[in-house]
Formats: sequence, C-alpha cells, structure tokens
Amino acid sequence: MCGIFGYIGDKEASEKIITGLKKLEYRGYDSIGVATMNDKLAIFKNVGKVSDLEEKICSKNLKGTTGIGHTRWATHGAPTEINAHPHYDKDQKIVIVHNGIIENYQELRDDLIKDGYKFVSQTDSEVIVHLIAACYAKSNNIEESFIYAVKRLQGTYAICCISEYDPSRMFLAKKSSPLLIGVGEGENYCASDVSPILKHTRNIIYLDDNEYAMLSTDSVVVKNYKGVVVEKEIVKSTINIDDVEKGTYDFYMMKEIHEQPESIINTITNRCFIDEGKVNFDFIGINNNELLNINRIVITACGTSLHAGLVGEFFLEKFAQVPVEVEYAAEFRYRNPIIDSKTLVIAISQSGETADTLAAVVEAKQKKARIISICNVPGSTITRESDGVIYTKAGVEIGVASTKAFTTQITALYMFSIFLARIKWIINKEEAKNLLTKLYEIPELIRRILLKKDHIYTIACKYYTKPSFLYLGRGISFHVAQEGALKMKEISYIHAEGYSAAEMKHGPIALIDENMPVVVVALKNRSYEKIASNISEVKARQGKVIAIATEGDTNIKNLVDDVIYIPDCEEELSAILSVIPLQLLAYYTAILRGCHVDQPRNLAKSVTVE
Ligand code: G6P
Repeated sequence: MCGIFGYIGDKEASEKIITGLKKLEYRGYDSIGVATMNDKLAIFKNVGKVSDLEEKICSKNLKGTTGIGHTRWATHGAPTEINAHPHYDKDQKIVIVHNGIIENYQELRDDLIKDGYKFVSQTDSEVIVHLIAACYAKSNNIEESFIYAVKRLQGTYAICCISEYDPSRMFLAKKSSPLLIGVGEGENYCASDVSPILKHTRNIIYLDDNEYAMLSTDSVVVKNYKGVVVEKEIVKSTINIDDVEKGTYDFYMMKEIHEQPESIINTITNRCFIDEGKVNFDFIGINNNELLNINRIVITACGTSLHAGLVGEFFLEKFAQVPVEVEYAAEFRYRNPIIDSKTLVIAISQSGETADTLAAVVEAKQKKARIISICNVPGSTITRESDGVIYTKAGVEIGVASTKAFTTQITALYMFSIFLARIKWIINKEEAKNLLTKLYEIPELIRRILLKKDHIYTIACKYYTKPSFLYLGRGISFHVAQEGALKMKEISYIHAEGYSAAEMKHGPIALIDENMPVVVVALKNRSYEKIASNISEVKARQGKVIAIATEGDTNIKNLVDDVIYIPDCEEELSAILSVIPLQLLAYYTAILRGCHVDQPRNLAKSVTVE
C-alpha cells in the first residue's frame, strides 16, 4: 500500500527519494509524487511507475536538499495525477504525504469548505494540509499547526509534512500505519519500512502511535501529543542488504521461492533442540503457567497468513490438544467474539502491519485475551501490540505474492504446537525428538522439489491460456489448495478457487469440462483413496487433472494428465512441501501470460487500510 519516503540533509533530495520509492514499489501502488524544497516547494506527480516520474524529474532538474515522496494505492478517488500525493495547501507553502484512511475526512472537509478552503483532489488526505494551513493562519507556528491537524484526525495515518514556513524541519506523525526514522550523519530519513533506508543507515527509530517527530539535518526530536519529549531508542537494523536486492533472479518472487530452505533453517535454528526434544522461544511473553491456563486458541490473519493458520490448526489440535478456531481478521472484531483471559489469540502476519489483523489484536486485547503474534518484521506494529512474538526468520519478503512467509509461518506454528504439547506433558521427549527430526529434514526436501522446476514450467506451458483453475485437497492439503489458488489468481489473473475435494460435488463440479484444469493435492495419506475417487469424478467429466503426488505413487500416473512428485514426509509437514510446486506453477503461468509477478495489479504487499 502507500509508501512514504522523506529526506532532510545536504544532498539532492530528489535522487534519494526516487531510489527510496523504487524500494517501496513492492508495497503496491498506482501513482507517485515527489516534493522538494529549494527556497520554494516544487511538486512532481505521475500516474504509473516510479521510473516514469524519474524521467520527468530529471528533465526539470529538481533541486533541494529536503523532500518527501509517496507511492499511492488509491482508496478515496481514482488513481489520477491530481489525487496523487503530495498535496499542497492553497498558498503552496505546505505539502503533506499520507498513508492510511482519515475516517472523519468528510466532516473535516465540509468545515474547511465552509471556511473558504478549496479542494482539488477527491482524496481523504487533502484535509490534512488544509487543516495545517488553517491553524497556521492563526498561530504562525508550524509545529503547533501540524499537531493541531493531526489531533483532529480519526482513522489511520502516517503523515510526513514539509513547509516553506519552517524549511529546516520535517514533521512526521503516525497512528496504526507504519513510519520509521533513519538516523544518519548530517542527514535523516523517514520511510514506511526499513528497505529504502538500509543503504543509508542502519540506525532506526520506530515511531509509536500518538507520537510526532521533527527531523532536521542533525537532530530527531520525538514528542507525544501532549508536547512532552519522548526519549526513543535507536535500534540497529540487522537486515542483510542482499535481502532487499533481486540478485540474479528475474523477480523477487522466484528468489523468495528459492530461499525457503534457508528461511526455514533460520526459523528453527536456536529454537529446536532435537537431543533434548525441546523447543524454546525468546520473546514468547507469556509464562508456562499462564499458557497451561489457556483453554482455547483463536488464530486470526488475512490472505496467505490465514492459510498458514488453517494448516496450523491441525497440529495445534493434534499435538497440544487444545481447541482451535481460525478466523479472518476482518470478520473477527465485528462479530463480538467470545474470548477471555483463558483464550490465546495467535495473530499471524508477515508484515506485522495488516490493518485488519492489527484491529483484531486490539479487540482481543480489550477482551483480555493473551496474544502471541507470528510475524516476519521485527518491531512491526502487531508485534508491539502482542504479549509475545514468534518471529519467522524468512528475511525480507518483497514479492507481493507471499511464499517464504507462508512456509516459515507453518514452521513456527509446528514448533509452537510441540512447545505447548511438551509443557502440557502431552508428548514426551522421544516423541518431540521424532517430530523435530522430521522438521529438520524439510529444507533438504524442498531443495529436491526446486530441482523439478523445468517440469513444472512444461506443465504451465500446457495450461497457461485457460481462463479458470480449480484446486482441490483434503485435510491439510485442502488449505494448500486454497493457497495454490490464491497464488494463481494473485499473479496470473486467472480465476482460481481452492476447495475441499469432498465439497467439489456440492457445486464446483458443475464447472468441470475439458477446459478446466484441476490441480489436486493427492498425497499418500489417510485421505488418499477418497481423493483418488474425487480425481476419477473430475476425469469422468473430461477435466484435466494436475496432481501433486507422493514420490513412489506410480498408480496416480494412470489417473491424471500430469503429475508433480514431492518427497514423502510427515502429514503435518506436508503443506510446506506441497505448496512449493503450486508457487512455481503460479509463477510460470504468470510469466507466460506476461504478468509482472512482483507487482500484480491492484494488490498491495502490506494492506494498511481496513
Ligand atoms: C496482502 C498480501 C498477501 C498477504 C496478506 C496478509 O493481501 O498481498 O500476500 O498474505 O496481505 O499480509 P500479512 O502481512 O498480514 O501476512
């Protein structure tokens, strides 16, 4: 979603901003804009890609050592140049960029119009700059005007403002939308995430909700909304800079698919101790006695993270023997969920910033539930709202279609299930050793699947022109089917649905004909015979079946059109393996259809609005 990048220092701001915005492209956007200040403010905006704006800016030789940039993902108002940020006040002396949604913008807008302010865009964000200007007209003080405006906003925001009235300072504020500060030497930065800042500095200040910051070339001052200075910790980011580069891959998604063995190793290292049959977490935040008191687990998440939760439900219930429900974060808070202090809410989020998941966490907290988040981004908002956190150590995930986050989330849930089962004395040391040994085997098994990518490409070549795909599975594989379908629709724009194979007869079967590829996750486990029958039902209606099957299952070849074999493994861990061919199938299909895999249309990596 919207991305913000700001610079104040002694170098040309426009160059820094363009490079910074390129690093934020992965978040998803449809238009962009840059404002710089060189005595006077100047704004350049564009619909389309950052590189288009770059040309425009180069031709104008945009000067100034202070500036802000924005990638916009349209919510209020179409993706047009006028609606793109930054937005000016009427005298063109103040500019702002905003990420989030101002819920009371209509009311604020009406009041401002009554007072003679003219709006040029359809955005909710424009009210912010007019509010600042309105206050400045009376106070002549930009800090006071900025905080006056911010305090009147309801909803979510990350805001960055510069003005000719106070050219040596940049103003920032945030509520429920991410914004962090990069502390440099003789220069300072702000951005929606750490990726564009890393090449300049590793010293990061995470702004908290209801705080505002003032950056100058050599200082960062943070205050709360009462105007009291807050001493902020400077955190050294440990993210590897290569993580935010594509390297030799054409797309981040392919790089990230290949990183899965390493990501899983990183997620389990120093946490799983096979010899002791033990799992340990650093920041679990809830002591063992409290965990023993938990009588129910609610997992909440969105998108791919929700699918990981649905897989995790199986082993949390099986190993730790605690009832688990999995719920879309967006639905959770609106149905007045029955939860109390004996409920453990597990919030899963790659970014740790997804607005719906964050809102679900806040709701659960109010109801006194204990909260553990499974997150990939250290210091993200959801982790800070939770009692404890299990970090997935996937490394930075940039491809919009989530891959390594999914497999590491399942890994984290698997480890947590064993951890819980051990403290509840449900499984003994030997059983835990066995389960952990199987987990340690997974990275190598993924590497074996990745070697089959040419075969998967050939299959993609056969089916990439089809308008619709059906994905089927049972048990854990049902949720892998859902994830496979999600990958396909996200990046190739082919309509795809993931169904329980058993449910197929209750509707989707009506769709099947010779034009419908049906991807079936048909592993050798207790559902095998049943899923083989479902395959026959598809074949009887001329559907084309692509099976994900267990190595050694020669029989399946006679039932289906194409087979992708994966190594045999524990049923609980099978999702991590069976999803890999589905990620690759979606990737190759998208490439064959000429789609931009890393920046699919309309999607955002980090969905910071509800
Ligand atoms: C967006 C992304 C998905 C992601 C979902 C949840 O829709 O495009 O890839 O699964 O948000 O994001 P989270 O960061 O909370 O896991």
